[in-house]
Amino acid sequence: KRTNKTMKVFAHRGFSGRYPQNTMLAFRKALESGCDGIELDVQLTKDGEVVIIHDEYLDDLTDFTGNVRDYTLGDLKSCNAGGKWQEVYGFQPIPTFEEYCEWVSGNSLITNVEIKSSVYYYEELEKKTMELIERFGLKERIIISSFNHLSALSCKDFMPDIKTGALVENGGIANAGYYCKKFGFECYHPGVEGLTKEEIELCHKNGIEVNVWTINNMDDLENLYEWGCDSVITNYPDVCKSWLEAKKAKD
Ligand code: G3P
Ligand code: CA
Repeated sequence: KRTNKTMKVFAHRGFSGRYPQNTMLAFRKALESGCDGIELDVQLTKDGEVVIIHDEYLDDLTDFTGNVRDYTLGDLKSCNAGGKWQEVYGFQPIPTFEEYCEWVSGNSLITNVEIKSSVYYYEELEKKTMELIERFGLKERIIISSFNHLSALSCKDFMPDIKTGALVENGGIANAGYYCKKFGFECYHPGVEGLTKEEIELCHKNGIEVNVWTINNMDDLENLYEWGCDSVITNYPDVCKSWLEAKKAKD
């Protein structure tokens, strides 16, 4: 029987299963959960600041209306990203990526930075994100990913040896290992639905790491462990981490 004692756990948008997604509260709680890394989403404000938020528009996740790109960072200071949790946790600001970098410099978490550049293409989002990674010396603990593969790969223009992942929806790309190797990705980031053991093996044969999202049930977690998946990205890092620790002790 195969075992996978090195499988890592990433908190999707921070510990988003129990705290407001992509906030410093969700990031701090992810660290406390004992996970290995955090996945987060970056976009640009009107005045070109890198901020952490998932949607391009503010209406569903915050008490503001309209697009992130139409507000300056100053305007967004009073925006509450507490979303559905605001009754419980009160006001939770949208973090800047700079604030996050400063915080993550003080611990050893890995960060999967997802560049949001396929709904709206922000000029200079890659450059500004990479400048912050450089300034805080975080390169060794970063994986850049994006559904816009050109955008992810273009980060290498600013930092040639940055690790990048080809992010794809459920269903994925068949022969993804070859695709990633050919275009210079180090990692493949597929949605879990439709992913097979064979596809993971093909990736590994091509030297490509496989980090899968979003793992919120035990069947997926167990399968991916058995299949040798490198990391799972989950809304519940506490559950995944506890299960993994128990499993590793038994195997
Ligand atoms: O990076 C994995 C996953 O976060 C991609 O989908 O919509 O949650 O950003 P989404
Ligand atoms: Ca994401």
